[in-house]
Amino acid sequence: MLSLDKIVILDFGSQYTQLIRRRIRELSVPAEILPHSTRLEELQQLCPKGVILSGGPGAADDVQHVFDKRILDSELPILGICLGMQLMNTLSGGSMHTSDKEEYGRAAVTPCDVSPIFSDKTPFSAWMSHGHSINQIAENFHVTSRSEDGVIAAIQHKERPHFGLQFHPEVTHTEGGHHLLDNFLKLCAAPRTWNPEDQIEEIIDDIRKRVGDRQVLSLISGGVDSTVSTILCVKALGAEKVHGLHVDSGLMREGESAEVVDQLTQAGLKNLHVINASGTFFGAIKGVTDPEKKRKLIGQTFIDVMQQRVEEMGLTDDTTLVCQGTLYTDLIESGQGCGKHAAVIKSHHNVDIPFLKEKRARGLIVEPNAELFKDEVRLLGQRLGIDQDLLGRHPFPGPGLGIRILGEVTKEKVSTLQKADAIFTEEIHKAGLYDEIWQALAVLLPVEAVGVMGDERTVGNAVALRAVTSTDGMTADVYPFPIDLLTQISTRIVNEVPGVNRVVYDTTSKPPSTIEWE
Ligand code: XMP
Repeated sequence: MLSLDKIVILDFGSQYTQLIRRRIRELSVPAEILPHSTRLEELQQLCPKGVILSGGPGAADDVQHVFDKRILDSELPILGICLGMQLMNTLSGGSMHTSDKEEYGRAAVTPCDVSPIFSDKTPFSAWMSHGHSINQIAENFHVTSRSEDGVIAAIQHKERPHFGLQFHPEVTHTEGGHHLLDNFLKLCAAPRTWNPEDQIEEIIDDIRKRVGDRQVLSLISGGVDSTVSTILCVKALGAEKVHGLHVDSGLMREGESAEVVDQLTQAGLKNLHVINASGTFFGAIKGVTDPEKKRKLIGQTFIDVMQQRVEEMGLTDDTTLVCQGTLYTDLIESGQGCGKHAAVIKSHHNVDIPFLKEKRARGLIVEPNAELFKDEVRLLGQRLGIDQDLLGRHPFPGPGLGIRILGEVTKEKVSTLQKADAIFTEEIHKAGLYDEIWQALAVLLPVEAVGVMGDERTVGNAVALRAVTSTDGMTADVYPFPIDLLTQISTRIVNEVPGVNRVVYDTTSKPPSTIEWE
């Protein structure tokens, strides 16, 4: 239910819309997301303290006919981010062009004029993700900062409290982004009444309301997300009403399924069913090399295997809801975020499956983490008393090692990758760096590299190592390993993993690359 005095975020389909809301809430201000088609009258009814226009895919021309232009005539404080800024400029008579200087990733920005948004004129590093930029600024706006390439990075209305930023203040990689948003909130005179402690109660309440006196079947991958969502269900409904189902796909990390059982049992889950289905999975993806096909097949196999077991257990009817650990990141990257306008980057297996779509259509899905980012889920897990080792574990994708073996997946390749991955993880732990890294992973490349071992020419596979820092998986930076450690890990992998004779380190950020290779 929307209350007054909030910041309203109009969603144009940005990958970061939910992140904007989160940042505003972190500054203790209530914030809600509404579609970008919201009319001025609807907005006025809410008496918001300010409005944020999110970014989004595409250009201002694509969305300006849907947006209620009268919103820009109001005296409300407005902050346009990326596409939001471009729209403000276009609708006020300025113009955009497809930039010959596309900017993705870091860019140095220098404020060139006084503005309540920037406290001073100190240059800072900002996160850009755009292919369009302003080539003619609207008459009633002026430029308040530029990037090192001369691209207009911020604008401000000459009379009204309307501001535009070409970069993303909501991502952690924008230096001082928090501060810029805080400056905007001060300008809005927004009340600081949002409290994160309310969140668990809110979620538990939602689960109870949704499930009623029915029961829940929780699909457990073993990662933080499904563990936290399952335990939230246990807290909300009691252990008797929650059935955990874990599928060992054979695409897990070394020893992972056994650990899953231990940890979930300790965390309070009583009914845990484990299915060993590795043979079925290898059969399903045999010969498949296309990443999206692999993802879908692995996802479908999960569902088929579960369906069969669930039928055997007699949990198929409408008295059982399915709980999933789906995060906001999963939804947004499947084009199903808040406004459902975001572009599909990768189809995540836990979203786009007919069986789940059907359950969803019948209102039989519980997704306690659907509005949360990974780090928020970890914090929530801590408050729920879940084991720190489990909570601190690096994220692992649903399709598992299946999307870390480029090309065809075989049992032998999985075994090779598991060994390399285990060495990488062990060395990171030994060096005391595990908690500094968001995600570390090994990828088996489908190349035959030439090497030399014991005076013999060898032909072996190459393994790519990737380690990134991030706070939410939406953007990521390369972890700067000391070269000595990297060579030590590389030596161990080549010496201890048969068939591997080369190790490379991935040095790309996200964007432009994604964290996983497929
Ligand atoms: P990308 O590769 O999109 O990854 O930058 C962002 C985060 O999501 C994880 N990931 C997945 N998780 N199913 C999942 O459950 C998937 O298909 C999938 N693909 C990526 C990835 O490991 C990272 O943490």
